[in-house]
Amino acid sequence: GRWNHTEGPTSLLLHVLPVRPAGTADNIFLEVPPGEVASYAFRIPEHHPAGLFWLHPHLHGSVARQVSLGLAAPLVIRGALDAVPDVAAAREHVLRLQDFALDRSGRPIDPGMGALMGGREGTLVTVSGQTQPRYAIEQDGLLRLRLLNASASRFYRLSLEGHAMHIIATDGGSLATPQQVDELLLAPGERRDVLILGSRAGGVYRLMNLPYNRGSAGMMGGPLGTRTAFEIASVGYEGRAASPRQVPQALGEVERLPAARARRAFVLSETMGMVPGRGMGIRFLINGHEFDHARIDDRVRLGDIEEWEYINNTDMDHPMHVHTNAFQRVGADGQAEPAWLDGIVVPARRRERIRIRFTDFVGATVQHCHILDHEDLGMMSTMQVEG
Ligand code: CU
Ligand code: CU
Ligand code: CU
Repeated sequence: GRWNHTEGPTSLLLHVLPVRPAGTADNIFLEVPPGEVASYAFRIPEHHPAGLFWLHPHLHGSVARQVSLGLAAPLVIRGALDAVPDVAAAREHVLRLQDFALDRSGRPIDPGMGALMGGREGTLVTVSGQTQPRYAIEQDGLLRLRLLNASASRFYRLSLEGHAMHIIATDGGSLATPQQVDELLLAPGERRDVLILGSRAGGVYRLMNLPYNRGSAGMMGGPLGTRTAFEIASVGYEGRAASPRQVPQALGEVERLPAARARRAFVLSETMGMVPGRGMGIRFLINGHEFDHARIDDRVRLGDIEEWEYINNTDMDHPMHVHTNAFQRVGADGQAEPAWLDGIVVPARRRERIRIRFTDFVGATVQHCHILDHEDLGMMSTMQVEG
């Protein structure tokens, strides 16, 4: 890939492809000056899982701005999941969810201080560049919607009228069996792959974005997130499947990461500080530090499994995202859930635990909040994977 005709420098991130985080591959430390062209080259490993991945700019300080203006591209990797017969037979669409804050003449609105603190959201929501697109579904057929939240800060709580959604894959690949849900929460950066069964006789059904309160930036404003439900797309019946389809029972093997001896905690907090060009505002910290690319915050060992606890000491949700290696959430029973993630919402004033295994690559990588204004305002840390 190559880009840079933005007005400032940028850098490219392959949103957590497990590829080598160095050189001209997934290297957030590489900077591309304005007007210049950079070519990125990377190898997809043989054992790379099938799934929906994506890429977006990642230059610290400008990430929220560049992504909120639309720089984001899905990247589909094919593999075993795509060969499951009822998955292969489904009609497939990638839904890239983006929101834009525009004035009446269509120019981007510069976010105010409050919008930066909470994370900027726009009122124009697009799905793969369209407003309220309609996707055709066949009666007794299957529709595969591959959902990507490519918005800078907006959370989507999605529900399809009259239909269950069957999740077949999360950020990092396939589930073992489909998980039936009536709604799902998709935080910035996250992906979910869902099957919809055409179980109705006909009609048009709205894919709704439901209200979700993602906390508040304290004195900087009221509740954040979607307050009233609205339609973002719809599904309309057209025709009938040549042969009736069913949601598959089995999708493939997914291991559960075993208990880990190595433990680490990450405390998410806030402090007051200078926001460039805007004066005093909230800065966001991990373990008491703002991001510094020259400092190594954590050293981990290749091949190790670790258990991490995120402790959110703020009044806002933080969707934490780890580069390079996928992880599993640890449930209330202390077991890892068999679903590969690269993002996890740590709700305001709550904790979450994950298990993560460092495979294949040594070198420097990062984790950060995927509310991209928070990342720009400091909520990112470095990690060195040592061989
Ligand atoms: Cu990302
Ligand atoms: Cu955050
Ligand atoms: Cu990132």
